[in-house]
Amino acid sequence: MYLCPEPKTLELKGGYYYFPIGEKPPITTKITPTLYNKESYRLIIDETGVHIEGANDIGIYYAELTLKQLMMNHRGCLPYLYIYDEPEYSYRGFMIDSCRHFFSVDEIKKMIDGAALFKFNKFHFHLSDDQGFRVEIESYPKLTQVGSVRPSSDFGRGEYDKTPYSGYYTKEELKEIVEYCKERYIEVIPEFDVPGHTTAVIASYPEFSCTGEEIQPRTTAGVFDDILCVGNPDTMDMIYSVIDELCEIFTGKYFHIGGDEAPKKRWNVCPRCQEKIKELGLKNSEELHGWLVNEVSLYLKKKGKKAICWNEAIRGGNVEKDNITVAWWMDRTKATLNWANGGNPIIVESFTPYYADYPYGMHTLKNVYMYNPRGIKGLTSLGSASVVGIESPIWTEYIRDFKKLTRMCFPRWIAVAHTAWSGNEKKNFNKFLKIATFYCEILGEMGIESAPETEWNILPHGRLSQTVGFFRNLLSKEMISQLLKKDEK
Ligand code: ACM
Ligand code: ZN
Repeated sequence: MYLCPEPKTLELKGGYYYFPIGEKPPITTKITPTLYNKESYRLIIDETGVHIEGANDIGIYYAELTLKQLMMNHRGCLPYLYIYDEPEYSYRGFMIDSCRHFFSVDEIKKMIDGAALFKFNKFHFHLSDDQGFRVEIESYPKLTQVGSVRPSSDFGRGEYDKTPYSGYYTKEELKEIVEYCKERYIEVIPEFDVPGHTTAVIASYPEFSCTGEEIQPRTTAGVFDDILCVGNPDTMDMIYSVIDELCEIFTGKYFHIGGDEAPKKRWNVCPRCQEKIKELGLKNSEELHGWLVNEVSLYLKKKGKKAICWNEAIRGGNVEKDNITVAWWMDRTKATLNWANGGNPIIVESFTPYYADYPYGMHTLKNVYMYNPRGIKGLTSLGSASVVGIESPIWTEYIRDFKKLTRMCFPRWIAVAHTAWSGNEKKNFNKFLKIATFYCEILGEMGIESAPETEWNILPHGRLSQTVGFFRNLLSKEMISQLLKKDEK
């Protein structure tokens, strides 16, 4: 029997409950508020039918989801069993970047269907970046009129596309996605990435940058020096207005304020940013970033929201701990480690192996499945208890179509889902391979194509050449041929 995530407790009792194929067995439902966790449930199948029990409607929903998977395994009968289940992590996330390449509402809904089947409960929607601003904002209409269109695309890989590329979601479309997720107990978390990754914002309103120079949304991948000028009070007003409008659409608890890859080159020489640093009594531009995070998270707190930021945003050391959750993707400093070890919440989105836009040869299915988010080197027991969840992002510089998107994510997201709900205690990769094969077929019937099994766990020999292939536009010809020679040995 293939269930994913695997329930915490499952006892087969022997025997089967039979019912006509195509029909549902009789189900009784009971709310028991004293069940341990708001998402926990009990599912019992005996000679009288199916009995489900949850602390509230969420627990009932997850019991029904497990029943749905059981029915995918069995036709016209269900094994007598007892399941008690609860998730390891309260935050079980997947992220889609619709900025580098844009995905339609129907495509996004399909990805949600795929994730929902495995009990993900957070959809982090990356909506603003250098290469495109993808959400309609009434108070700043140029964000989409200008910021959603880039003149060409050249993300490397010899795929230079000279035609303009555009796309954005209307508020109605986003509300439809939020509603679709709500029906699946998934919270949609919008990301408005500030102060970096904002070329599309600056292209729309150059006055919000330190230089005021006119630029276009980026056509290439990378990290760019032009970031928002926070010494300009009008920039802060714009940030708050965008947040106001996004909060009308996205009604959940979390709001992602980005904060990754924000070079301080402009701030270091900008008279307004330097004046702001002086006025606030700060030491440097990193502390100014910390101040921005504090201001924005306080603004969100007043709206009843919690801020999430990427790990670079806390480097200044002056970020207030209250109301902020740090998304740990890559941190060569000790900042995030100290944050977590101090008992402050983190979401683990470790580049290796959770970045789903990298080839299977780099982040193999086995690596993704076996990864232990609480096992990060240097985490104390308090630090490991501060891991509130995990998330697997898919960045889309190199993902231009839906088929590639789904193949990069599945079956790796099935493995992420296992860890997110079932934790690391009872992992068995050979068993998981069968589970992944089973669900890839079901995903296929749902219109979600998975990567072929031959790619899931490429042997070390092929792995290096895939990695070299991925980075080929960053390496010299000599380096590539040397690496490939090594790979052949
Ligand atoms: C990131 O990958 N820049 C969060
Ligand atoms: Zn400035």
